[in-house]
Amino acid sequence: MKFLITAGPTRESIDPVRFLTNRSSGKMGYAIANAAIEQGHKVVLISGIVSLPPLENARMLFIESAEDMYQAVSAEYKSADIVIMSAAVADFTPVKYYSHKFKKSGHDNLILELKKTVDILGFLGQNKKDGQLLVGFAAESENIIANAREKLKRKNLDWIIANNISTTGLGFQSDNNAITMISRKGQTLEYRPQAKMDLGRKIIQVLLKDED
Ligand code: CTP
Repeated sequence: MKFLITAGPTRESIDPVRFLTNRSSGKMGYAIANAAIEQGHKVVLISGIVSLPPLENARMLFIESAEDMYQAVSAEYKSADIVIMSAAVADFTPVKYYSHKFKKSGHDNLILELKKTVDILGFLGQNKKDGQLLVGFAAESENIIANAREKLKRKNLDWIIANNISTTGLGFQSDNNAITMISRKGQTLEYRPQAKMDLGRKIIQVLLKDED
């Protein structure tokens, strides 16, 4: 099987020294990629800037912004059997990029105007290839299952992996996570808090079973 996996945060530049980003460490996406490699599958891993070592047996593509991620994903997704969007893609990016360092003089308050980024998962849902399995993530802080189900339908996904980001010690930046996997066919699988590496293996197992 050929997997296309995205991981980590994006960086949305304001000027040459500043950017907007989020708390994603990339650990969940790297753990999934690692598990697929362990099972002998081909992996293309599109990664934001993270402090994890590159995976030796994956084809690694490093990107910075949501737009870079979109370009890389659109060039790669067609040949993938399973596409997993675990990256924490910025939803908004600055309208204007300042090519010189923005000066603070003359500004006591500052409003930064943002515009929506491309919804990469939405694009993948609209352009899904025959037999391709599309998996999204939903980081939620309330009504987790209901929001995840709605996202699964709206984005034409086969699976959505929901995690509750309001539980301390789990999820963003942690080595552990607790997830619920929900499928288009109506399956709901709950996994208790555990190492992301172990969850990665379980996710791969479930997806491969669905591909049979
Ligand atoms: N994602 C994406 N492109 C974006 C933003 C998010 O592909 N520009 C993907 C993430 O990789 C993840 C999923 O979409 O798989 C998360 O969606 P999310 O942003 O939580 O859902 P939305 O319904 O778009 O928005 P909201 O934040 O309002 O829940």
